[in-house]
Amino acid sequence: MKQGPLRTAVLISGTGSNLKTLIDAAGDGRLDADIGLVLSNRAAAPGLEHARRAHIPRMLVGQAGRESQDREIRSALDGYQPDLVVLAGFMSILGPEPVAAYCGRMINLHPSLLPRYPGLDTYRRALAAGDREHGASVHFVTPELDAGPVIAQVRIPVLGDDTPDSLAARLGPREHELLRATVELFTRRQVEMNGPDVRIDGRRLEKPLQLDKRGRLD
Ligand code: GRF
Repeated sequence: MKQGPLRTAVLISGTGSNLKTLIDAAGDGRLDADIGLVLSNRAAAPGLEHARRAHIPRMLVGQAGRESQDREIRSALDGYQPDLVVLAGFMSILGPEPVAAYCGRMINLHPSLLPRYPGLDTYRRALAAGDREHGASVHFVTPELDAGPVIAQVRIPVLGDDTPDSLAARLGPREHELLRATVELFTRRQVEMNGPDVRIDGRRLEKPLQLDKRGRLD
């Protein structure tokens, strides 16, 4: 099996706090990853600044529409040859082409306890449903939106006076830990997708790994 630092490409659209978490962890040796390509579909994405400061090649995609966006993403990824592609706040739907080409090597961070609340507006939907807990999931990307096999999750309680904003603010730091810990599994080449299943060290995962209070996956 291929070893060495995990060649990682990250796709963003916004603040890029999750991208920054990965850059920092790789920078100080907590993550054996080489974050070598950042793609954004928004020119104004503040997250691009994290890539610039870390001297990571960055590229804008999708400025001429969705169809060319898929082609641009595919060709940028093919040029870089990543071991892992991370969608970290990438707010545009990928077409079947890049998804098929990187199936099993592409993960997405989603702010809900999938399969609950695929799509947008997850905090408001969780509050409207009266959920007692909310959370985030990291899953393999498959053609159906937010429906690929879930690798790991983090849960937080919903408080009586929570608003979508307060929930998002409390979940944010835990999402960072979740993403870092999940990417670490990939750096150790422990995770693979097998049809609808996730395998860890060759064994089928019965249910998603859960992030504990110390930031470890169990
Ligand atoms: C995160 O909440 C993630 O769950 C969602 O988009 C947000 C990205 O935040 N998919 P950032 O751009 O990494 O700060």
